[in-house]
Amino acid sequence: MLRMFGVSRRGGGRQRGTPLGLLTVPTLLVTACTTPAPAPTTGPDQDFQPTATIEELMRWMVDPPADAMWDAVVITSTPDGLEEQRPETDDDWLALERDAVLLLEAGNLLQMENRPVADAASVSELPGVDLEPEEIAARIADNPDAWRRSARALHDAGVVMLDAVRARDVDALLEGGDRLDVACENCHSRFWYPSGPGSRALEAAGTPSP
Ligand code: HEC
Repeated sequence: MLRMFGVSRRGGGRQRGTPLGLLTVPTLLVTACTTPAPAPTTGPDQDFQPTATIEELMRWMVDPPADAMWDAVVITSTPDGLEEQRPETDDDWLALERDAVLLLEAGNLLQMENRPVADAASVSELPGVDLEPEEIAARIADNPDAWRRSARALHDAGVVMLDAVRARDVDALLEGGDRLDVACENCHSRFWYPSGPGSRALEAAGTPSP
């Protein structure tokens, strides 16, 4: 996937949105309990079921919220001057908060082992540029640490976006958007289209050629 961003920055002039409405914090009542709590499950016994494919996570959980975040602030140059579109209402900001949470938790889901790359019927839409699912799976198996780091970078970019959204800080949202873009691109150029346009010569960093 190639992306072009028409977003330009404008220093100063930033306006803040209306303050967050009152949040109701539910009170959790904990009743005394005589039986000891079961020991927490840790380590390799965790019973994750990585049902969706990486392709599905990308299509349904990563790409839509990322697009929404990148589209949240758009500054367009028109004959009449600069037109700025930015989140205004509480609903705008709440939608972005949901998007940031989806993105950061997708970064965790991508770290679960044994997640299939794509359905059996799925083939590369750009053969010779995009790798086939089995080639992607082989790369992940060869570079599990690089894969985990790439997924973690998505999580961390999501956290930056969430902080920006909660602070209703449009500049931080733009900067977080750049970081998010780098997180997507670094993983894609290593695991999805390593020899395609936009590849950042990460081969030098130790990824064997397919
Ligand atoms: C940890 C690695 C990783 C990260 C981070 C990542 N992707 Fe992906 N993405 C992949 C892989 C691998 C594929 C190829 C899967 C396939 O289609 O077979 C892919 C495919 C896609 C696709 C094509 C899905 C389809 O319908 O075939 C889109 C769209 C996409 N990613 C968007 C994004 C966006 C947007 C981000 C950042 C917000 C992102 N990805 C971050 C690994 C990643």
